[in-house]
Amino acid sequence: MQVVSVSSLKGGVGKTTVTLGLASAAFAKGLRTLVIDMDPQSDVSAALASRSSHGYSVDSVLNNTSSSVVRQAVVPSSWTGPNDIPVHIMMGSPSVSAHDKPTPTKQELWKLEEALATIESHYDLVLIDCPPSFNGLTQTAWTAADSVVIIAEPGLFSVTAVHRTLLALQAMRLKMSPRLRTAGVIINRFRPDSPEHLFRLEEMKQLFGDHILEPILDETLTLQQSTGAAVPIHRWPGEPAQTIARYFDRLLVKVLVEERV
Ligand SMILES: Nc1ncnc2c1ncn2[C@@H]1O[C@H](COP(=O)(O)OP(=O)(O)O)[C@@H](O)[C@H]1O
Ligand SMILES: [Mg+2]
Repeated sequence: MQVVSVSSLKGGVGKTTVTLGLASAAFAKGLRTLVIDMDPQSDVSAALASRSSHGYSVDSVLNNTSSSVVRQAVVPSSWTGPNDIPVHIMMGSPSVSAHDKPTPTKQELWKLEEALATIESHYDLVLIDCPPSFNGLTQTAWTAADSVVIIAEPGLFSVTAVHRTLLALQAMRLKMSPRLRTAGVIINRFRPDSPEHLFRLEEMKQLFGDHILEPILDETLTLQQSTGAAVPIHRWPGEPAQTIARYFDRLLVKVLVEERV
């Protein structure tokens, strides 16, 4: 089981969208996939059209990591078909913000890792959709993760946000988890007709070099439509959706095998 955190210390850059795109690629490949919703806004739970029948969520799991609580917090998403392995989701909840402490203890940071140990044999891939800050929730996700994918838009403040995230990863490696890898930076919402975006993309390539994962994801309506309809991009009709789906296939391969520190 590989555990990948999808993070940025900036909101609205596409963490949830990329989590869903990578989950869709994994779903198409037949990987047993679990998505964990660590963001109190719970967007990824809504996008996977899931509802917990028991009221258990990632908040319950961080309070009690026993296998019975973990199993009840995990539900199948609406992404399924007769011969598919369904994508599962560990439900998000606004109440998980109680765990987003500025100075979490080490014991608190190990909670998700402990919880995942109880279901390790059930999944090939775990994708964690993180909140846009570096408090307890992101640190807890990183402690459980093998690697972190950083999401960035081609903009001025994203350059500094990527830099801060790389520094935070370095600190986390020293403090908690020496095994934690930087899978790379996915650039999202690129507009090839924007001179500002072209300039920032070049700047990011120069600054972060090898860390940038190709292909770059363009801004496209089809991603918003498929997300809004709770349909994996690989199942969304039309040529633009298929192009984006192939991009996510390539990004998933890189996220899973590329090794960068
Ligand atoms: N490549 C893209 N093309 C078009 N819209 C996008 C793209 N990526 C994200 N969006 C839209 O941008 C908004 C923010 O994306 P989201 O994934 O929710 O960001 P985050 O999780 O980082 O806050 C959403 O409305 C989403 O549909
Ligand atoms: Mg989000």
